[in-house]
Amino acid sequence: MKRILITGGAGFIGSHLSEKLLNDGNDIICLDNFFTGSKDNIRHLIGNNRFELVRHDIINEYLAEVDQIYNLACPASPIHYQYNPIKTIKTSVIGIINMLGLAKRCKARILQASTSEVYGDPQIHPQVETYWGNVNPIGIRSCYDEGKRCAETLMMDYHRQNNVDIRIARIFNTYGPRMALNDGRVVSNFIVQALKNEPITVYGTGSQTRAFCYVSDLVDALIKLMESNYDKPVNLGNPDEHTILEFAKLIIELTNSKSEIIFKELPSDDPTQREPNISIAKENLKWEPKIQIKEGLLKTIEYFDRIIHNK
Ligand SMILES: NC(=O)c1ccc[n+]([C@@H]2O[C@H](COP(=O)([O-])OP(=O)(O)OC[C@H]3O[C@@H](n4cnc5c(N)ncnc54)[C@H](O)[C@@H]3O)[C@@H](O)[C@H]2O)c1
Repeated sequence: MKRILITGGAGFIGSHLSEKLLNDGNDIICLDNFFTGSKDNIRHLIGNNRFELVRHDIINEYLAEVDQIYNLACPASPIHYQYNPIKTIKTSVIGIINMLGLAKRCKARILQASTSEVYGDPQIHPQVETYWGNVNPIGIRSCYDEGKRCAETLMMDYHRQNNVDIRIARIFNTYGPRMALNDGRVVSNFIVQALKNEPITVYGTGSQTRAFCYVSDLVDALIKLMESNYDKPVNLGNPDEHTILEFAKLIIELTNSKSEIIFKELPSDDPTQREPNISIAKENLKWEPKIQIKEGLLKTIEYFDRIIHNK
């Protein structure tokens, strides 16, 4: 049994991680400022005496005795991280400094939820961890991308300078139940529109590609990385790549929807291709995703159907 702090623990990925680590017998401190997370996501865990919920913002210092820290606190969808870009970058940069300080003091191992956005609009495909990226430092996505890049820098510097035990997960698009409704992410957008028989909005021509990982696979990978000896960045995601248009058509089919597909202008700095090379994770974590896209989408559709129709 370990004492584990999960920042952003009431969010989409954080709530699944909290649940898994709690079920594995650990003591969990779930810390969240509820900006995009919600008590509904972790309501079923409240009442367990190994689960503690703390309302806190990681841009302020937090003190606790813990063995491990998973730092997930940060809005992840463009609508949310662009709502207050200065706050977003503070969360990534000041937040990780606070968490690294805590890790240093109590000699805890710390895992940072980094992102494929550190590669920006990548010029090599699929992306490998040694690629340094192609990121616009002054665009509307920069508060997120550059914040996450700076957080990786801080992780490496605390490691080199203070011997802090670090793990860096570069997470690629992940989907599943408890994604926020209407947060503009492709999967949740398409499913909600399809379930309501509303037009499905595809930005650009829909030929841009994405590869989506189901949340239970991602949570397994995060835990394997935390427990491994691998202290350099690792891509975590599902390499099964599809065009956005293919996703739209598949979701229409799986929901039996009457929705039509409409096309809108592509937002600026939207990457054209995104697919992880996961060789490092396969070799060092003995991990690869197990859930096929149809199976994951059906579970996600069932969740949104319940939420939308109050079932
Ligand atoms: N979902 C993805 O596809 C994806 C991809 C790459 C990286 N990530 C990273 O994984 C992490 C979790 O993402 P998610 O999809 O679960 O998003 P999410 O928005 O559902 O979760 C983020 C959580 O952090 C909380 N939070 C935000 N700012 C905070 C602050 N200053 N102090 C305390 N709590 C704060 C939110 O309330 C929320 O509960 C994020 O760091 C995100 O950048 C996610």
